[in-house]
Amino acid sequence: MTHSAVPTIQIATLHAMKQRGEKIVCLTAYDASFARLFEASGVEVLLVGDSLGMVVQGHPHTLPVTLDDIVYHTRCVSRVCQRALVIADLPFLSYATPANAARSAARLLRDGGAQMVKLEGARPKLVQCLVENGVPVCGHLGVLPQFVHLSGYKVQGKDPETAQRIAEEAWALQQAGASLLILECVPAALAAMIRQNLTIPVIGIGAGADCDGQVLVSYDMLGLTPPPHPRFVRDFSDAGTVQEATDAYVRAVKQGTFPGPEHSY
Ligand code: KIV
Repeated sequence: MTHSAVPTIQIATLHAMKQRGEKIVCLTAYDASFARLFEASGVEVLLVGDSLGMVVQGHPHTLPVTLDDIVYHTRCVSRVCQRALVIADLPFLSYATPANAARSAARLLRDGGAQMVKLEGARPKLVQCLVENGVPVCGHLGVLPQFVHLSGYKVQGKDPETAQRIAEEAWALQQAGASLLILECVPAALAAMIRQNLTIPVIGIGAGADCDGQVLVSYDMLGLTPPPHPRFVRDFSDAGTVQEATDAYVRAVKQGTFPGPEHSY
């Protein structure tokens, strides 16, 4: 699958895909070689996630990742990207205040070449401040890896009160101007309800099939991470080469065969 002649992906492209009911395919990418391969398979969104702290740097969680780390890896990805939209994670404590967030986002967009930043948690005021200054934002709710010491990695939104809170937070992020939302490890029924309530695309990871798109940590998708794996991970490496595995992932997301019930909560 080669897509070099197709137009670049913009926020409006992703919103139009949601309206058409076409699934959005996202993968994490941290370097030029994988970014090229993923683009060639038709992946629409490349996320330079702070998961790089675990899969590239070997840390037990994402907290040690610095802004300089994310800028470096974002530059490696954006330098070769021709079509996909590049989102860079704001790492731990790089957005504690609006001034801090603005400075960090400026580095990710200016020096890293990202087109959007992602931040964890219900921070609508911060999102509004970034958007008012020209920074597109992707929200991230559900399991929040940067809050591992407070809430761990357990599925969020199983009880009605928490489910209601997450739905309200999602709405608030959209109202604040977020362009996209990632939902991590929430019950499939909750994700489906949020996806229906919002006009912005909702990308799931461990959030069931009824999202506007899916994201996986690419090293998980390629079977490169040691077990135990969370329930939502599917290893596509039995499809063959890295390119063939990525093609299989893209196909499965587009056709709605991934994630299945066995990957969902
Ligand atoms: O850092 C990351 O890879 C992420 C995904 C798990 C969504 O935030």
